[in-house]
Amino acid sequence: MQTDHKDFKDFGSDRLRLGVIGAGVMGLGIVQIAALAGLDVLVFDARPNGAAQGCEKLAATLRSLHERGKLSAAQAATATAKFEPVTTLEALRDCDVVVEAIVEDLAAKQALFGELEALVRDDCVLASNTSSLSVTAIAASLRVPARVAGFHFFNPVPVMKVVEAVDGLLTAPAVTLNLLALGRRLGHTAVRAKDTPGFIVNHAGRGFGTEGLRILSEGIAEFHDVDRVLRDVAGFVVGPFELMDITALDVSHPVMESIYRQYYDEPRYRPQPLTRQMLSAGLVGRKVGRGFYRYDGGQKQAIAEAPAPAARPAAVWLAPDVPTSLRALVATLGTPVDDGTVPRADSLCVVAPVGDDATTCAQRHGLDAQRTVAVETLFDLSRRRVVMTTPATTAAWRDAAHGLFGADGVPVTVIRDSAGLVAQRVVATIVNIACDIAQQRIATPADIDLAVKLGLNYPLPPLAWGDRLGARTVLAILERMHAFYGDPRYRPSPWLKRRALLGLSLLVDENPQQAGG
Ligand code: NAI
Repeated sequence: MQTDHKDFKDFGSDRLRLGVIGAGVMGLGIVQIAALAGLDVLVFDARPNGAAQGCEKLAATLRSLHERGKLSAAQAATATAKFEPVTTLEALRDCDVVVEAIVEDLAAKQALFGELEALVRDDCVLASNTSSLSVTAIAASLRVPARVAGFHFFNPVPVMKVVEAVDGLLTAPAVTLNLLALGRRLGHTAVRAKDTPGFIVNHAGRGFGTEGLRILSEGIAEFHDVDRVLRDVAGFVVGPFELMDITALDVSHPVMESIYRQYYDEPRYRPQPLTRQMLSAGLVGRKVGRGFYRYDGGQKQAIAEAPAPAARPAAVWLAPDVPTSLRALVATLGTPVDDGTVPRADSLCVVAPVGDDATTCAQRHGLDAQRTVAVETLFDLSRRRVVMTTPATTAAWRDAAHGLFGADGVPVTVIRDSAGLVAQRVVATIVNIACDIAQQRIATPADIDLAVKLGLNYPLPPLAWGDRLGARTVLAILERMHAFYGDPRYRPSPWLKRRALLGLSLLVDENPQQAGG
């Protein structure tokens, strides 16, 4: 069995012959970056003429990149000369590494690698671009499973500049190290992950959609309000419902279910019934004209926002623990501040929860829940404000709060009571999942942040985001949500808890175990 580094070529610098199997979206993307990096690539597809057609298509793509000024004529011509279609698997026998990007089916991948193994040298690395299958399972039936690893790219490959090199249980470390070097040679950031459901990026992405769905299912806010809050307040480029519409539920719902089930019903990844129902109804997203939003002629429907009412409270009383950012804002909004130790009878009472709901805060401060609202203050207050009512808040006080916080023209989203409002609970969920990926040693903290930054394009990488908010604050949000809901979904990861208690960065790894320990 090949287990030593010396058994393999150095993928970072040696001349390499690469085989790519599957001339579909992903396979051709991999061929493109490999040819541009100067590797010789042979392309095979089971469809008759599939590889030849794919190579023609890729040549046209390279020409068009030149015409649009993205590549020089020489770069396009040199890259085009680097790949060629082959019509048999045997033609791949001299490859140093073969990457498969065929149909996502365990039996098909096992059969293909079984056939390949009989053809190629024992030091040929077999890599799978699978996104949801177990690399260990793909390798297990082979004679030399040590040379099989995951090599997971993202779509579109030339644009999404990250690749996960995945260690199966039987993979020789030299194989994964070589794939990391190859990934870098192809111009990508290469990160290393253990073979676990979702690897890094698709695992770290579990919080955003599922927590958005949870907020919707709890009746806290409409889907478009959740999207607006997460975009304007937390800084996401798209909201979770917009994202599910783009990805399409026929892709994203099965992924949600699969990762949840593969982790034996881990509540952190729990989907909601709504997306299954939408899938049954065919409302899968933008590509069919209707998902959460409607798309007329491809254009996302515009959903009007309720304008800020003219109503204002006579005075505003702020709970003693609200942050100075809120005090400073209220001072500019033109309504007198009630600075009594207890609120006057005609004052709107405002609380600023961290992980709590408005009801709990009203109780804690001994306030009249009918005229109490909560405001999100952990995130940016300048682009949108979130006002949260208790179940007892009257419509008149709600409107007065909405009018007050929108008095300077900044839009306001009014939501129902929620432990952690909207942005806190979504961001804390994301940070917590990233912490648990680190805790499970699926990847190093640095690789988790790198992979998520490039793979998911969140406003900040999750562990750095946790540090920005403060590990103690994130821990407090989760502990209070956990206490309120009693749902283990919100239990803090040990990684977060210990670093918060010790005042350490979430990016701090632990010392390796003592040798022999
Ligand atoms: P695709 O359907 O565009 O292309 C698959 C190609 O493989 C087709 O040309 C098909 O003819 C060929 N093929 C199927 N079975 C074959 C076999 N036994 N031998 C040789 N060729 C065979 O699929 P796509 O989207 O490129 O996905 C390929 C792989 O990449 C899958 O494992 C998928 O899960 C994974 N992946 C896909 C991503 C995506 O966003 N599309 C992202 C990351 C991974």
